[in-house]
Formats: sequence, structure tokens, C-alpha cells
Amino acid sequence: MKKLIAGNWKMHSTLTEAKERIAGLTAFLQSNQANHDAFDMLVCPPATMLCPVQKWKDDAILSVGGQDVHINEKGAHTGDISAEMVADTSATYALAGHSERRADHGETSDIVRQKAEAAHRAGLIAVICVGEQESDRDANQEYQVISAQLKQSIPAGATSENTVIAYEPVWAIGTGKVAEISDIEKMHAHIRNEIVGKVAQADQTRLLYGGSVKPTNAADILHTANVDGVLVGGASLLAEDFINIAKAA
Ligand code: PGA
Repeated sequence: MKKLIAGNWKMHSTLTEAKERIAGLTAFLQSNQANHDAFDMLVCPPATMLCPVQKWKDDAILSVGGQDVHINEKGAHTGDISAEMVADTSATYALAGHSERRADHGETSDIVRQKAEAAHRAGLIAVICVGEQESDRDANQEYQVISAQLKQSIPAGATSENTVIAYEPVWAIGTGKVAEISDIEKMHAHIRNEIVGKVAQADQTRLLYGGSVKPTNAADILHTANVDGVLVGGASLLAEDFINIAKAA
């Protein structure tokens, strides 16, 4: 499967920084250093940058996604944006249920499922994020936790075309701690099994790993069985690092 190299910019960057970063990524993607048979690239900027990023990028080779969507199409929801609004910027993806949304905004798996549904309704590809806490792992509960999150977060109608699953152990996000390759391999095999019957064409569904992915560990992670890409936070803010991660695919 072609790898998906996805960058989650979170609440970072000015327009000037973003423009420079997109220029760097575009130059790489247009050069013969980029192996387009090996990977697709996605960036998820803050909502204020969805439109300008669309203008700056080269359409064919870089996809753009929102970091979150509201469950409703429209209405009195101050500060929120709908999946339809994200799609209206020509973005094609939306994250749903990133652990920071789950933690900062109390998003339950039930809400995450409705957000993924909203993304599908708007024609977006939903990147559904799941991940266990360190305490879950300490209690040997990580497989149960992930199974439950998958069961509750994946909407009916999910297919390999409209859904990507991102496994991000919460304790590995932004901490510099990365799961052992053997643990990533086991968890991704588990997730592959668990999504059978929940996502059509489960074997064709992209499963991303996220949590302190860097140019130095990307090759090992990307070449692990059932890892079909990476979701990168910190290292997606430097074009050079993100490019080196893509090269590792
Ligand atoms: P990180 O973030 O790469 O900075 O650990 C990953 C994520 O939250 O998607």
C-alpha cells in the first residue's frame, strides 16, 4: 500500500511560516527526489490556514485536511467549523478524535464517531485517531482500550476509501518516547483484525502510527507490517524533517 505521510500542525505557525513550509514541501514534491509511487502527503493546518494553504500548494501532490469538525452541518455553534466548511475550502481530509481533542474538549468515542460521520457526509476522508494512556499500558489493558475505541469511534459506512485509522499511544505524543517497533507491529496487527466488519476492505485501509515520529525513527516505523503511514506532529513543522520522513517511505 502507498504510505500516507500526514502532518498535524496543531495550534502552531503564522501564515508567513506556513507559506514558507508549503513552499519547501512543494519544491520537494515537484522534484525528482520525491517518489510518488511510495507515498501521498497530507497536511492538517489550523482552520485559519485551510484556504491559504490550498492556494499555495500544488494541487495534485499535496492533500489538505482539517484538524477537527463539528458533528452538525451548520447552526449556532460559536467557534466551531463544520465538515462541509472544511470541504468547501477544497480540503479532502479531517482528523477525528485526536487525543488532544479527547482530553481538552472531552470528546468521547461516541462523539468521535459522529465527527467521522460528519466528515463522510461532507465527502471528506476521516482520519480516526485512537490511542491508549500510559496507565492503560501499565495495566496491560492497551488492546482492550483500543478495541473499545475502534468499536465506538468507527461509523457505519466506513470504507478503505473514506477512512484512515491513526494509532497514537497518548504517552508517545510530543514526549520523544516512541513505542517499540515490536509493540507497534502487534498493535497494528490487532487493529487490522479489529476493523474487519467495521471498515469495508479492512485489508486496504490505511493504518497510521503517530507519536514522536522523527526523521531518525521514520524508516523503521514505516517499514513495520501493517503500518501504512505516519501522523506527525512536531516534526511536521519543519519542512526538512517532514520531507526526510517522507523520504523514509
Ligand atoms: P508528535 O505528535 O509527533 O509531536 O508526537 C503526533 C500527533 O499528535 O499527531
